[in-house]
Amino acid sequence: MKAIVLERTCKATELNVSNVPVPKVKPDWVLVKVKAFGINRSELIMRSFEGDAPYIQLPRILGIECVGEIADPSNSHFKKGQRVVALMGGMGRSFDGGYAEYAVLPISCVFAVDIDLSWAELGAIPETYFTAYGSLFDCLQLTASDSLFIRGATSALGLVAVQLAKSIGSTVLATTRNAGKIELLKQHGADVVLLDDETLANQFYAIYPKGVNKVLELVGPATLKQSMKFLSYHGIICSTGILGHKATFENFDPIKDIPNGVYLSSFFSNYPTQEQMSKIFRHIRQCNLKPPLAKVFSIEDIDQAHLLMESNMANGKIVVTIQEE
Ligand SMILES: NC(=O)c1ccc[n+]([C@@H]2O[C@H](COP(=O)([O-])OP(=O)(O)OC[C@H]3O[C@@H](n4cnc5c(N)ncnc54)[C@H](OP(=O)(O)O)[C@@H]3O)[C@@H](O)[C@H]2O)c1
Repeated sequence: MKAIVLERTCKATELNVSNVPVPKVKPDWVLVKVKAFGINRSELIMRSFEGDAPYIQLPRILGIECVGEIADPSNSHFKKGQRVVALMGGMGRSFDGGYAEYAVLPISCVFAVDIDLSWAELGAIPETYFTAYGSLFDCLQLTASDSLFIRGATSALGLVAVQLAKSIGSTVLATTRNAGKIELLKQHGADVVLLDDETLANQFYAIYPKGVNKVLELVGPATLKQSMKFLSYHGIICSTGILGHKATFENFDPIKDIPNGVYLSSFFSNYPTQEQMSKIFRHIRQCNLKPPLAKVFSIEDIDQAHLLMESNMANGKIVVTIQEE
């Protein structure tokens, strides 16, 4: 089968398709015939440097998510031919992932699909919607009356968060560093777009002098201390992304850095459940949401897919579909 095997950390242009044996199924795992997979920052990080970390064993087939059909259900409750999505739980990191024609995956990260979408659209859903949904509705407890500030809103995750927040009627303030993307965010439903530059605080307080009550932080520790200050009393911030290339804090003093009465939360997509995936499919169906697809590639163009993500100009979810031979 075709697969993208990471042999060593490399540039996007060094990614290519290998021919490897179809993996063998085992008890409590299923064989999935992959139809599409989304591209994630996680794979860029793995490909460019994390693959050298002592806890990663290369070679490894990349891919933290995929969608497809059950080719062999093994001892699971799944049926042959059933449509499924799969994500996380070590996919593409501790065991081979979704950048392939077939993947053997533990039952715990494979979920039944209850929605009628093309493979490309379905491919945009698992990781991005699971993360946006969990961040907004679990961590931030978002409601229609909330004002939500999304930092890093032009990311695939940010655009889905804008879409989900607007689908329940919240007011959305969204940021980009690129003035050329203001219209994009408005088209996706943002009520207010702010430029993330040195004037951000002035722009923000001019409209919301008392702050908003919810913040979704996708740039991460690089901007989180400032984002927390945009919250009103008893507001909640969820730190979900690390677009600012900083995953941890040095010199973090919780007493001084977290404003009084502000709640700091975070979301990690490593623990998906069927219950949550089913809720997401229901929400997408009921609100008639369209996944914000940026571009669909073939597996042979995996280098182009990674280059597009690196360019920061995708403006949506990048998906690879696998064509039948
Ligand atoms: N917690 C979890 O479990 C979880 C799950 C999934 C994803 N994530 C994280 O969520 C984030 C979004 O992922 P994605 O796949 O949706 O990303 P993406 O689509 O590749 O994001 C692209 C956008 O990121 C913005 N960006 C890039 N570098 C930036 C920087 N240094 N500072 C501020 N903005 C920057 C750019 O926006 P502008 O140029 O318009 O400013 C660009 O449009 C990533 O950090 C990812 O690792 C976390």
